[in-house]
Amino acid sequence: MKKLNVGLLGIGTVGGGTYHVLTRNAEEITRRTGVEIVVTQVADRNIDHATMVTNGNSALTTDAFAIVNNPEIDVVVELIGGYTLSKELVLKAIENGKHVVTANKALIALHGNEIFSAAQKAGVIVAFEAAVAGGIPIIKALREGLGANKIEWVAGIINGTTNFILTEMREKGLAFADVLGEAQRLGYAEADPTFDVEGIDAAHKLTIMSAIAFGMPMKFEQAYTEGITKLQQADIKYAEELGYRVKLLGISKRSDAGVELRVHPTLISEKRLIANVNGAMNAVVVKGDAVGPTLYYGAGAGAEPTASAVVADLMDVARLQNVPFESRVPYLAFQTDSIVDLPILPIAEIASAYYLRMRGNDKPGVLAGVTKILADRNISIDAMLQKEPDDNETEADIVILTHMTIEKNMDAAIAEIESLAAIVGKLVKIRMEELGK
Ligand code: HSE
Repeated sequence: MKKLNVGLLGIGTVGGGTYHVLTRNAEEITRRTGVEIVVTQVADRNIDHATMVTNGNSALTTDAFAIVNNPEIDVVVELIGGYTLSKELVLKAIENGKHVVTANKALIALHGNEIFSAAQKAGVIVAFEAAVAGGIPIIKALREGLGANKIEWVAGIINGTTNFILTEMREKGLAFADVLGEAQRLGYAEADPTFDVEGIDAAHKLTIMSAIAFGMPMKFEQAYTEGITKLQQADIKYAEELGYRVKLLGISKRSDAGVELRVHPTLISEKRLIANVNGAMNAVVVKGDAVGPTLYYGAGAGAEPTASAVVADLMDVARLQNVPFESRVPYLAFQTDSIVDLPILPIAEIASAYYLRMRGNDKPGVLAGVTKILADRNISIDAMLQKEPDDNETEADIVILTHMTIEKNMDAAIAEIESLAAIVGKLVKIRMEELGK
């Protein structure tokens, strides 16, 4: 029986899950691959914990470099996170001719271009299914299953923490700050929850998906990122009254002008399946020109869901390690010399429909003034909601949904509306997505 010797860097939540899945399903995995996948060596700072998980069946070390330099190891599984030490370890493993499997979205989004270039020179595999949407095989779908299509757009709920928070805010009428602590307690959040709530984690994952969807380099630093920390309960409620849900979406679209790469709260019609993805679950919609919109749903985090993706990558390595480099699926799905440096559109240039909420004095002509500004800028109104002022109040909330326009046009209209004497304070603007065509 052929054997694949695995070196595991980190045996925490995902590493432990990987170990358990590989052990529990060893027979089934070997039936599928014809290869025995063995965790030969594990590196972790906590040797007691590593001993407990491995039950004495793997060699243990606290020195991760001992694994990347171990000639017995065929493939290194990087599960330590971050992008300083992990980058050094991954590049060293590649230099030593080892294949790499990683769940590290930040590492791939920020340093993927350099890592793939090094891996190509060394002729090794770098697999990263677990880096995006945990257990959902979205990388496999984009790289292979949808390979016949010209991908037009990708949109996803790709951060479980924020989806959990938004679900609780909607279902229980709670404020953002009241729910964050609970999400952290449940263990969904990143070590630094800013990465979750400010949309950075989602932008890492979106960067990776867009590179594979469109055949372009990783462009994380150009992604537009807006989190959910400023989202107010009132907007979730008004959106619901109008038949919409607010989700933190990662959206990447290709047009002749360039690629949109953006993460922000988004109104989606409640009729869309993705609008009904609740709790910590993830979902991605991919639109291909041949297949139309396709939806992928599942657990985006957690020990065994993420391990499911890590082990599937290991199985690919087991099958493909002896296949010539040019016969393997390229890292970013497209041949390396066909990767195109597509321009990323600044947020001011994207096209979107919008939800606007403003507070206006309840007197004649206020709405007419607002709608005139929108009409002058060719922004068409799709729906409107005005609430009666509460007792003793003279101001009312006005909510307007618009059709598509270019963001800078909308921003100019908003500035004009805010300058009207009858409008109080700042407008709230939330982008909307159709996601149907
Ligand atoms: N913090 C991430 C999430 C974990 O909430 O989705 C998986 O990447």
